[in-house]
Amino acid sequence: MKNLMERINETVDFLKGKLVAIPQIAIILGSGLGNLASLIEKRQEIPYEEIPNFPRTTVVGHEGKLIAGVLRGRNVLAMKGRFHYYEGNSMDDVVYPIRVFRCLGIGNIIVTNAAGGINTNFSPGDLMLITDHISFFCENPLRGENPDNLGPRFPDMSEAYDRGLRKIALDCAGRLGIDLKQGVYSYCKGPSFETPAEIKALRFLGADAVGMSTVPEVITARHMGMRVLGISCITNMASGILERPLSHEEVIETGKMAEEKFSALISEIVTNWD
Ligand code: HPA
Repeated sequence: MKNLMERINETVDFLKGKLVAIPQIAIILGSGLGNLASLIEKRQEIPYEEIPNFPRTTVVGHEGKLIAGVLRGRNVLAMKGRFHYYEGNSMDDVVYPIRVFRCLGIGNIIVTNAAGGINTNFSPGDLMLITDHISFFCENPLRGENPDNLGPRFPDMSEAYDRGLRKIALDCAGRLGIDLKQGVYSYCKGPSFETPAEIKALRFLGADAVGMSTVPEVITARHMGMRVLGISCITNMASGILERPLSHEEVIETGKMAEEKFSALISEIVTNWD
């Protein structure tokens, strides 16, 4: 059995052999936010099944492929379909692509997701710039032997979401007339949605939104010193806020409604990346 670095190196060598350029920015596309990929020019699509050592996606509506190409003049690598812990993946698998991206030479990552709004000033369809996260309910992806060549045993998380990139995102939103909200994203494992009591508790802890992804990837990216920008699409109000049940259909539907705004914002941010 190959060790982690041997597997990563094998995957990186494969991707280096395929990609015409080393991307500057990786973009993880959240549920229902995949149409950004269609704006990427000179596209190269690589299904996960073809990539050595890559995990496989199981969720309906989550296609599994990497899309490399040029977005507004910059080389990007988009991940359409991510790996969730609730699918039964190990944390090692959930964060494997992030480690591959870093070892491929990518220093920047935009992480997107669909999230439930806890802050009652938010409405479904809003976009939220992630200012920080709460990882208490997330198994830490760095648990276990530390791959020292990737990063330190005890990585700093005091500015997980890059201040300079957040400023760029806010400026871009302003220019586009998008009311970009800001807030703290809290991770919950899923796949069941939270209970109203859990949402009350999370609000008390300082969370503005809740979702089932992103935090493992961000911890791993920061471990390796990547610059991170995170944006949530608020697809629904979190459990107990409105007097009605939550559904995955609602998440996907609202995601689709916000997709155009979301793609415009990400494109503008990529253009203005420093
Ligand atoms: N809870 C958790 N994850 C989510 C939600 C939610 O309300 N909406 C979209 N992803």
